[in-house]
Amino acid sequence: MSAYDEFQRRSVEAPEDFWAEQAKLIDWQTPPTRILDTSRPPFVDWFPGATINLCHNAIDRHLPARGRQAALIFVSTETGVERSYSFDELHAEVQRTAAVLQALGVGKGDRVLIYMPMIPEAAFTMLACARIGAIHCVVFGGFASGSLASRIDDATPKLIVSADAGSRGGKVLAYKPLLDEAIRLARHEPDAVLLFDRQLAAMDLTDGRDHLAAPLLERHRDARVPCTWLESTEISYTIYTSGTTGKPKGVQRDTGGYAVALAASMKHIFDGRAGETYFSTSDIGWVVGHSYIVYGPLIAGMASIMYEGLPTQGLDQQPDGGIWWQLVEKYKVSVMFSAPTAIRVLKKQDPALLKKYDLSSLRALFLAGEPLDEPTARWIADGLGVPIIDNYWQTESGWPIITIANGVEKKPSKFGSPGVPMYGYKVRILHESTGEELTRPNEKGVVVVEGPTPPGFMQTIWKDDRRFVDTYWKTVPGKMVYSTFDWGIRDEDGYFYILGRTDDVINVAGHRLGTREIEECISGHAGVAEVAVVGVADSLKGQVAMAFVVPKDGAALADDGAARQLEGEVMKRVADELGALARPARVRFVSALPKTRSGKLLRRAIQAVCEQRDPGDLTTMDDPAALEQIRQLS
Ligand code: PRX
Repeated sequence: MSAYDEFQRRSVEAPEDFWAEQAKLIDWQTPPTRILDTSRPPFVDWFPGATINLCHNAIDRHLPARGRQAALIFVSTETGVERSYSFDELHAEVQRTAAVLQALGVGKGDRVLIYMPMIPEAAFTMLACARIGAIHCVVFGGFASGSLASRIDDATPKLIVSADAGSRGGKVLAYKPLLDEAIRLARHEPDAVLLFDRQLAAMDLTDGRDHLAAPLLERHRDARVPCTWLESTEISYTIYTSGTTGKPKGVQRDTGGYAVALAASMKHIFDGRAGETYFSTSDIGWVVGHSYIVYGPLIAGMASIMYEGLPTQGLDQQPDGGIWWQLVEKYKVSVMFSAPTAIRVLKKQDPALLKKYDLSSLRALFLAGEPLDEPTARWIADGLGVPIIDNYWQTESGWPIITIANGVEKKPSKFGSPGVPMYGYKVRILHESTGEELTRPNEKGVVVVEGPTPPGFMQTIWKDDRRFVDTYWKTVPGKMVYSTFDWGIRDEDGYFYILGRTDDVINVAGHRLGTREIEECISGHAGVAEVAVVGVADSLKGQVAMAFVVPKDGAALADDGAARQLEGEVMKRVADELGALARPARVRFVSALPKTRSGKLLRRAIQAVCEQRDPGDLTTMDDPAALEQIRQLS
C-alpha cells in the first residue's frame, strides 16, 4: 500500500486518531479532548467542548514569529493601488474594524452580511467578524438586487457592510444603488449599513442607517479587541449556494473543524509553507475565496495575494496581459490557485507572456470549480513547467474532496481526472436509481460521500436542518449518504472523473448558478408564459445558460422585431435582478416546451438536443414536436 493510501485508510478507519493529530496544526484555547460526536447522523460535531478563534489562528498566533512579514498583499489594476499589509498591520486593521462592528451593535452570533468588491477591507471585515464571534455572510459582488434581497431575508443580518463600487475592466459598477434596492425589496431590515468609500461612485446615505467607515475607523484607530473564544462547533460563517430550487441554500460552517481542515489541507494538499506567498485568483464571494484567499493561507502563516482586476489586457490596454505571472515573479508566489475558465482566457493571448517572467518560485498551480479539459491542462502545464493540480470540491465541502495530496506523497496526475479521494472522505459511486454501489472500473453513477463527513464540511443549511437532510442525504434509496449531485466514474487505478451535475445547477465560467433561479426571474416578466433554462457546453466558459421561452403573445414567435425586443427585456431583467453573470447567452422563443405526460419539464433532453447529443429515452414525452422545435433553433 502506498504512503498516501495508508494515510487515507487511517483517516477513514480511525478518524479519532487521525484528526486528533491534525488538530495539533492549530492553536486552541481549550484543546480538544473529544474528537467527534456522531450521535445524530448525518450531523457531525467536530472537537466538541474545545474552544478556538479563527482570527487568532489566522493572525495573532503568527505575531511573535512573523509580525513584520507580509500577510495580505492587495493589488488592484483597476485603481492602481498596490499595498502589502504585514501580520502586525493586519492585526491592527482587523481590530479597528472589529471595534467599529461592536460600536454598531454587532456581537457574538449576530450576522454581518458582506457585499463588497475585492478590496482588503472585505478581508478585514471577515476576519473582524471571526474575531468577535459574529457570523459573516459574504454575498458575491456580481449579484444584483434580487439575489441580494433573498440572502438578506435568509441571513437577517444586524449589519450590512458594503462599498461605493467595484470595478471591472475599467468599468465602475456602483454597489450602493443595488444594495439600497435590495434592502427595499427585502422584508428584513438591517440595523445599520457600513460603507467603505473608494471614491469611485457617489453614494446617497440614509440617515440613521448608513455609516461611512473612515471616520469610525479613525475613532477606533488604536483599538484593542481581544478574540472571543468560540466552541469548536459554533458557526463561523454561512455562504449561499445554488441548488435545485430557486431558494439559495445558506451553507453553514463550524469554527474548529474548519480551522483544522484548512490547516491540514495547506500542509497535505497545497504544500504551502509559512513565510511563502499564496495567490488565489478567486473572489471572496465564493468558497474558494473564503478558504484559500482569506483563511487557509493566513492560518498557514503565508502571505495571500488579493487581486482586483482582469487577468488579461482590457480595452484600455490595462493591465499587462501577463499580470498574474508578473505578480508571481514579484511576490515569489509558491502556490497558485485558479479556475480552468481563467486559463482558457489566458490561452487566447500571446504565449510569450508566459515566458516573460521568472516563475521559478512557483511549485504548483491548482485549478478547480469546473471540469479541466485536457488541451487547457496541457497548454498551461507546458507553459509553466510545474504540476497542474485539478481539485474537485464544492461550497458544501469547504476544501478539496478529490485531488492529489502531494504534501503526503507525490503521485502522478492523470489528465481529465482531479485524482483520488482525499483523507477524511469516503467517496463512493452509486447507481442513480437503485443506490447500489458501483465498484467496477468506469461505471457511471452519482458521486456520494458516506458519513461522518470530515472537519470543515458544512454543518447544515442555515436555519433549516430538515432541508439539509432532505436535500443532500435522502436522494439515494435506502442509504443515508451525502449526494454531491455530480456524475462520476472511477478508473482501474482508483482515479475519479467528474462528468457534470445530476441536478439543475450549471457552471458558467467557474461560477455555480441554479437554472431554477434564472427561470423564476424570467417567469416574472409579464410577456412570459413558460420558460426552461438549461446549461449548454461552451468552449470558453464551460457552460452558458440558454433560455427557451413560451411567450404569452404570439408576436414574438411570428415577428423578428418583437422577438428581439422581448429577448432584450428578458436579458435585462435577469441582469438587473440576479446579476450579469446569470444572464442567458441566448433567449429563444418556442410555442411549447417538451414535457412528460405528467407535466415534468424534460430539461436533460433539451440540454442534450442543444449540445447535438442523443436525448435518450423519450417514450414518456408528451409532445415530440416541442423538442424538434428546440433542435431547429439551437
Ligand atoms: O459540479 C462540480 C463542479 O463545481 C461544483 C461545485 O461548485 P461550487 O460549489 O461553486 O464549489 C467550487 C469549489 C471549487 C461541483 O459540484 N466542480 C468543482 N470542481 C470541479 C468540478 N467539476 C469538475 N472538476 C473539478 N475539479
